[in-house]
Amino acid sequence: MSAGHAGARAQQGDTATEDLVGIGFGPANLALTIAIEEHNARSGPGGALRTAFVERQPEFGWHQGMLLSGATMQVSFLKDLATMRDPGSRFTFLRYLHEQGRLADFINQKSFFPTRIEFHDYFRWCAAMLADRVRYGREAYAVRAVAGQEGADTLDVLTRPAGAGLGAPADSPDASGEETLRTRNVVLGTGLRPRLPEGVTAGPHIWHNRDLLFRAAAVTDRPHRRFAVVGAGQSAAETADYLYREFPDAEVCAVFSRYGYSPADDSPFANRIFDPDAVDAFYDAPDEVKQTLLGYHANTNYSVVDGELIEQLYRAVYQEKVAGTERLRILNTTSLVGVEDLPDGVRVAVRSLTTGERYALDCDAVVMATGYRPTDPREVLGPLAEECLTDGRGRLRIGRDHRVATTSRVRAGIYVQGAAAEHTHGITASLLSTLAVRSGEICDSLLLGEAERQVLTARSVPAPAGADGVAVRTA
Ligand code: FDA
Repeated sequence: MSAGHAGARAQQGDTATEDLVGIGFGPANLALTIAIEEHNARSGPGGALRTAFVERQPEFGWHQGMLLSGATMQVSFLKDLATMRDPGSRFTFLRYLHEQGRLADFINQKSFFPTRIEFHDYFRWCAAMLADRVRYGREAYAVRAVAGQEGADTLDVLTRPAGAGLGAPADSPDASGEETLRTRNVVLGTGLRPRLPEGVTAGPHIWHNRDLLFRAAAVTDRPHRRFAVVGAGQSAAETADYLYREFPDAEVCAVFSRYGYSPADDSPFANRIFDPDAVDAFYDAPDEVKQTLLGYHANTNYSVVDGELIEQLYRAVYQEKVAGTERLRILNTTSLVGVEDLPDGVRVAVRSLTTGERYALDCDAVVMATGYRPTDPREVLGPLAEECLTDGRGRLRIGRDHRVATTSRVRAGIYVQGAAAEHTHGITASLLSTLAVRSGEICDSLLLGEAERQVLTARSVPAPAGADGVAVRTA
């Protein structure tokens, strides 16, 4: 058992209760584990926080269906999981490069933007060092308050093998494979969920781009006719580019309602919206200002494409025009009307927004690059969500320290990080930019909560006769 599992509570004989259970182990909760690990290393066992994380995937994985060859990060490598909080951390991207023997080679590229494949490898390298904190292949499906004298000060996180029903692993604590983790705090870092157009269901020939690499691998051994890609954002452009390159015998139709792909604003002043300071400014702003800022700067992240990729796609279209062919077809100002499964593919019905003309594209597959939506933390919280306070628009009230405001019936901490906190913490909530700093903030909040709890506990313990009354002195 590591320092992270052997902290202050263990010394008090309270071995079954974690200080924190994290749901999801994507980059957000991985970064938090690093911050806590580094705190534990500094504080020693007496002040260490005990943590356990639950991750649905069988091993660490970051958007693996979109790890396209050549696709680069849209964030500087310096915004890794640790540098912005502590450049001396052993979990930085530079440290990773150094250990891989690639530091000089990386520098010679003169780029701040590694490929996604390389950054994924960096994430995995970090995750491997923290493997004993995570239960992979398990999903949390409910969180229950444990009744206490003055409100619930602990929570039970109910977990089961991911895809339960497939059979419990041999080392499961009970026959069903269910396991309950008791904790003083829970952090939900459950990320994003694919969004499909209204009325569309994924199937053998209808994919969300999340699964692109896995699905595309299954159709390589046939002659190909055509693929359609719906959407005009970064994932859509990457998908069109990938299919065009990987399936040289297939036509690729990019279907979107805009006139053209629009470039992402990554200019330096706009980029400051991703700074840790911007989170403070956003958090304190009135709600209407928050909405305005999200609107002004949506084009840093939503429905926009990296400028170089736009140029690359345009060049391909133009070169085909010179050659008198048209394998990459940009069906702009065009909307999706419907999809119909066929025995050997899919019929995609589209409509021109300018002429109203409708027509069908028979395809091997259609890829819906139609975005993602945040996973709503309330789905996992279940009835406990009723104890979480909301704003006038029904959204969770989340403190600056990422802790959800609750009724007085719940004293345990419920933290939310990631896309589900965009309405309170701004556009960077769903991204990697502030993960290192945010993790430090959550770690500090947990430590503060723990210090307060110890004061309260000490107060409630009667002083032994003749003693000086430790509980009173701590007040
Ligand atoms: P993320 O979705 O990564 O992880 C959540 C984890 O929780 C998942 O592993 C999931 O399995 C798990 N989980 C969910 N529910 C669970 C449950 N009930 N029980 C157990 N486990 C559960 N951002 C950026 O800043 N720069 C970039 O370059 C990119 N690039 C990029 C490419 C692509 C293709 C996508 C789709 C997104 C990006 N992003 C990005 C944005 C992206 O949201 C961000 O990089 C991180 O994935 C956010 O990390 P999280 O940990 O919050 O969510």
